[in-house]
Amino acid sequence: MIQIAIDGPSGAGKSTVAKALAQKLGIVYVDTGALYRTIGYAAVTRGISTKDAQALEALLPDIHIDVKYENGVQCVYLNGENLGDRIRRPEISMAASDVSAIPAVRAFLLDTQRDIARRNNVVMDGRDIGTVILPDADVKIFMVASAEARALRRTKELEEKGMSANYEDVLREMKERDAQDSGRAIAPAIPAPDAIHLDNSGMSVEESVDAVIKLIEPHLNKLHA
Ligand code: DC
Repeated sequence: MIQIAIDGPSGAGKSTVAKALAQKLGIVYVDTGALYRTIGYAAVTRGISTKDAQALEALLPDIHIDVKYENGVQCVYLNGENLGDRIRRPEISMAASDVSAIPAVRAFLLDTQRDIARRNNVVMDGRDIGTVILPDADVKIFMVASAEARALRRTKELEEKGMSANYEDVLREMKERDAQDSGRAIAPAIPAPDAIHLDNSGMSVEESVDAVIKLIEPHLNKLHA
């Protein structure tokens, strides 16, 4: 079994590269941000402050999250309902970042993530995969790109999903969220000591995928082991 961890700030292209890689290798892609987004969504739609640790902790017993793979696409169900792209809205990004700083929320999502990796060959993307979720991952990559390159990509991504997006707003919100994610006390978004850093600012998607494949090639014997 193989475990590939891809961490890094928002918009660094983790999910695009991880998805392409999973498809190429025929393994499972796990988007862990979607889990935090689901809890952020649950809080926002119930009118709970995403910074209120006590209220969020009280909400957790009412939440049931299922991760399913439908036609190779990860779908996250909240209490039986597939949330689809609703968790991609910009306000849910910040809500996800807020709830992800709460220890009870991280503990709540820990087993879901580890269980998937126990049962499948995975490429998992997030912020703490190499440091906390899969500390023994075969390959750990910390993917970065300049804030400007990342904001540009995120703006395009939102537009492609039919959501209105303004580059300046995206850049400001992205910087705010990254500072919050990397500065938090629990599982901060920082590279594991044994992570390989990859800056893909000037790379196309294909070049980023190729760069990651080169890093993974020496470990591919574990795929069928
Ligand atoms: O990857 P994303 O942008 O969908 O993640 C949304 C938020 O969830 C992110 O700002 C921080 C949090 N997150 C986290 O704390 N740990 C992870 N492994 C993945 C995401």
